[in-house]
Amino acid sequence: MATRMELVRMALVMTGGLLVGCTGGEGEGPIVPPPPAPAEYADKHMPSEWWGDAQKLEEGRKLYLGEANPDVKCGSCHGNDGKPVKAGATDFRNPERMKLYSDSVWFWRISEGVPNTKMKGWKSKLSEEDRWKLVLYERNFGLPGKMWSDEQKQWVDQSAK
Ligand code: HEC
Repeated sequence: MATRMELVRMALVMTGGLLVGCTGGEGEGPIVPPPPAPAEYADKHMPSEWWGDAQKLEEGRKLYLGEANPDVKCGSCHGNDGKPVKAGATDFRNPERMKLYSDSVWFWRISEGVPNTKMKGWKSKLSEEDRWKLVLYERNFGLPGKMWSDEQKQWVDQSAK
């Protein structure tokens, strides 16, 4: 007879399989909410007037593609068009995944990286402003026209501000 733990594990494996199926098999694995941002990042937010700023977005595009600084080229793993080219790189086009990332979490991950993965931290190469420009640009792949509302703890329409 299966123990309670075994049943729980089986249920988890089955749910994981379903979620992989839903993401279209981009090789990213199941959608798991990211951990909360640590204290030193939890209160950092996109300057509110940046959400609709086409100039900052354009600067983010140049950074992402390596046009601003050849040492920084997010597109070399995440794909210039947002379709990952390195196995396991997060697919920013997937709104179901990306809506789970607050602006603070997004910024934290760009700053510090994800331990034990190819995603390294960029804080030594990029100013805070540049990291925010990258959040702005990356959010456009899956959440265009949206901004993070820290009051509502979710992404909302920019127009509905
Ligand atoms: C060498 C390949 C590589 C490069 C270059 C790279 N990334 Fe990543 N990135 C990854 C991988 C792999 C992951 C998935 C890590 C994981 O398993 O959670 C990732 C994940 C992320 C995540 C999500 C983190 C999370 O919590 O899931 C963000 C945001 C991100 N990258 C932003 C960037 C930005 C911005 C740049 C450019 C400054 C960049 N990446 C450059 C490989 C890369």
